[in-house]
Amino acid sequence: MSVTKTSAKASAPAKIILFGEHFVVYDNPAILASIDRRIHVSVYLNKTKNINIRSDLEITDSYKSSKLKLINCKKNRELIFYPLYKLIKSILSKNNENMGIDVDIRSEIPFGIGLGSSAACCVAISGAVKSLFHEPDRQQIYSIAVESERVIHQNSSGADCYISTFGGLIYYIKNKALNKIKSPKKLSLIIVNTRIKHSTGSLVSSVKKYQSKNRILFKDLSHSAYDICQSALYAIKTGNEKRLGNLMNENHKLLQDIGVSHKKIDEIVDLCIKNGAFGAKLTGAGGGGSIIALLPKRDTNDIILEIEKNGWECMPVKIDYGGIRIY
Ligand code: PMV
Repeated sequence: MSVTKTSAKASAPAKIILFGEHFVVYDNPAILASIDRRIHVSVYLNKTKNINIRSDLEITDSYKSSKLKLINCKKNRELIFYPLYKLIKSILSKNNENMGIDVDIRSEIPFGIGLGSSAACCVAISGAVKSLFHEPDRQQIYSIAVESERVIHQNSSGADCYISTFGGLIYYIKNKALNKIKSPKKLSLIIVNTRIKHSTGSLVSSVKKYQSKNRILFKDLSHSAYDICQSALYAIKTGNEKRLGNLMNENHKLLQDIGVSHKKIDEIVDLCIKNGAFGAKLTGAGGGGSIIALLPKRDTNDIILEIEKNGWECMPVKIDYGGIRIY
């Protein structure tokens, strides 16, 4: 298929996992929401046959490649950019296109803190590059994005790419039908960044090891995670924020049990609860990264002030219902 335009832009939202991270990899449900923080991508065809990726994900790296040669590249950066390179290559070759592409990535969220920046990057790039050839549908964008996310960590549940592509608040089970959830209340959610970077791949592997060594216990914990998710679904639908907060705390305990929390995470979770949050937990892979807290609306500003007094930056977030946008 030949190109219909020579440049395109797309953006895709970051996400939070409200319930069920890690257990979702083992076919348990999870509840996720996309948030009003985005990754923006611009792509331009070039005639050099090189794929050049520039990003403001903390650093400006430049990747020039027909074979992925890394320029000015910090250690481990190839882990971030190689899947993106593979993704672009695969779209170009499926369309018999021999040209190169320049890609610029601009992010409103830090990388590696559990907010799905790599998935959002895969989704936005997949949408932008595909749109050079034809109007892509969301299912196609999702399928390509999730393939490349699985280069980053092979056991990915696909949840991050799904929520970033379609947006909203969803009940997700790997490879199964998904349900959009309607919440009668606007949840007052904040994210607090521990400022400790994590690697999703290594945390998913460490849980795998834990599961292999503790099969019976892990099964029990999975059952509890399942029950929490079902109760949370009901609490969201009925607007019971107090119950939802308690369930977040219970979910956090399970994540501590499987060893993916961190003392800084626990410190912030406790701080949020002590200051009046309905509930708080780590979100994403853990081991650092971010925590989310659900706050009573009328006390939101006071609680944020208290958390910030302790030296932590709070990011209030809204649920984004749009998913990927292609311009
Ligand atoms: O930390 P993140 O944003 O990469 O989230 C990972 C979520 C996991 O459940 C731990 C893994 C997955 O593939 O669902």
